[in-house]
Amino acid sequence: MPRPPIIRKDPGAFVVAPNLPDTDAARAAFSWDSARAGLQGLPGGGLNIAHEAVDRHANGPRANHVALRWLPASGAARDITYAQLSRESNRYANVLRGLGVVKGDAVYVLCGRIPALYAAVLGALKCGAVVSPMFSAFGPEPLKTRVNLGAGKVLVTTEALYARRVRKVEGEMPTLRHVLRVDDPGTRGMLEGAPERFAVERTGAEDPAFLHFTSGTTGMPKGAVHVHGAVAAHYATGRFALDLHPEDVFWCTADPGWITGTSYGIVAPLAHGVTSLVDEAEFDAERWYRNLQEQGVTVWYTAPTAIRLLMKSGAEVARRYRFPQLRFVASVGEPLNPEAVWWGKEALGLPIHDNWWQTETGGIMIANTPAMDVKPGSMGKPLPGIEARIVHRREGGLAFVEAPDTEGELALRAGWPSMFRAYLGQEERYRKCFAEGWYLSGDLVRRDAEGYFWFVGRADDVIKSAGHLIGPFEVESVLMEHPAVAEAGVIGKPDPVVGEVVKAFVSLKAGHQPGEDLRLQLLAHARKRLGAAVAPKEIAFADSLPRTRSGKIMRRLLKARELGLPEGDLSTLEGPA
Ligand code: WT7
Repeated sequence: MPRPPIIRKDPGAFVVAPNLPDTDAARAAFSWDSARAGLQGLPGGGLNIAHEAVDRHANGPRANHVALRWLPASGAARDITYAQLSRESNRYANVLRGLGVVKGDAVYVLCGRIPALYAAVLGALKCGAVVSPMFSAFGPEPLKTRVNLGAGKVLVTTEALYARRVRKVEGEMPTLRHVLRVDDPGTRGMLEGAPERFAVERTGAEDPAFLHFTSGTTGMPKGAVHVHGAVAAHYATGRFALDLHPEDVFWCTADPGWITGTSYGIVAPLAHGVTSLVDEAEFDAERWYRNLQEQGVTVWYTAPTAIRLLMKSGAEVARRYRFPQLRFVASVGEPLNPEAVWWGKEALGLPIHDNWWQTETGGIMIANTPAMDVKPGSMGKPLPGIEARIVHRREGGLAFVEAPDTEGELALRAGWPSMFRAYLGQEERYRKCFAEGWYLSGDLVRRDAEGYFWFVGRADDVIKSAGHLIGPFEVESVLMEHPAVAEAGVIGKPDPVVGEVVKAFVSLKAGHQPGEDLRLQLLAHARKRLGAAVAPKEIAFADSLPRTRSGKIMRRLLKARELGLPEGDLSTLEGPA
């Protein structure tokens, strides 16, 4: 069945009037100062995300509104009101302060999606700490690397995750002063005994609040620093791109170990005072449909991999459920195929609205907002407050692409509130992301004559698997620690469901023979050290790996060969190809 290239929206068909009836008009009229007027600020001056997200509601008419509806992996749902979340985060703030946490200290949280995660993150923000939420599927190695890069002082975790992820590397994280296991009896006693009041540290808009790690092609992950002032962008984008209204039940399926799960799983919905669903369990098609139906989700923010998994689970499963409350569905993290947009329309009764952003941008930049006609396959248009252009980097400076449908790098005018303020300890690398007042995203895009942006690809070899950025270098380093491995090159191999899977090529040291046993051993080694989210799914042996004359593994060539594509320019290749 041929599908039209555009899904027209009927303004008369909205049950709830969209916050953004006309994106282009709003962009012309918008100012960040007017957006900041939606925030309260700390009593006596200053700005703190936790106050905007929780305390201002706890001290007002929404005190008894449900902030978090938690669905444990098994058992009954638990509601936590704004008043309760305020008190619980105050207890964490008091305990952390008691451990010596002061403004600017780094607090890491490795908890899985349980209420303690939310209370600990918010409590740490109240202390003025810089919070770094860790993904619970990270193995000990990525955890250690990140704690050390950010000089973590306290790690908040659970008994189970401590045993599985932390204990082995605890001695290798020299800056850590305390590991707080939220469910051990001692900590529980401490939390219960802690006062439920806390005077929020007087942070300002430019004080650091979050540290989110993101992977590049080379070297260790980069710590993107975000400030308290970012909450203005989370609030504005929650309003414009997610269309949050006070009575919404919102579900962001991302884990807070990735920035989507923090910006839109914690900050934006709470700043709006809505009810946010938190599901502890991992993806399961039946469970997810059931959540949408039984919890009465009105706005749903998820990812292409999840949508493709739902598509794969079959239409019969979807047909067993009804979603009369669902009003708006958005997706982020990887290209959303037009089929997935249409699947939404057929299975959920609503097209999926793609949007684009990055760890560095802190919040949604380009989006299909509810009132906009959707062109399946397009990421949408820049939000109010965001100026996006397409550029080519030239010797003499940036060349701006004016012609429609022309590929180039996506650039954003620097200065929106949730823009990252540093790559921790890497000033030069940070500076290189900017030119002439523009942030250069590293993504290749084009823009059509009507101003819709289309994703083309990334300019680097970073791997995107299930929406998560994986740095090949981190994976290669762990493989090379294995005694049999001489060199390793890691690529993203296209996959119809998760976008890309991690595939490693290894060559062996003298005295080691390739074989099934060793392959399984290497897979297990990588999985143990890196965790399931980062470890390669496939390993292939090679006699040697292609390198440049300067000694870098040519991942592009490994990938071209894997895919049977033209090998491109080989002038820098060392030795015979
Ligand atoms: C990279 C950023 C998504 C925010 C949190 C993850 C890719 C993101 C889209 C989209 C195609 C997308 C880009 C971007 N990406 N959204 N709608 N269509 N690609 O942030 O882990 O820093 O990843 O994800 O390549 O640069 P991240």
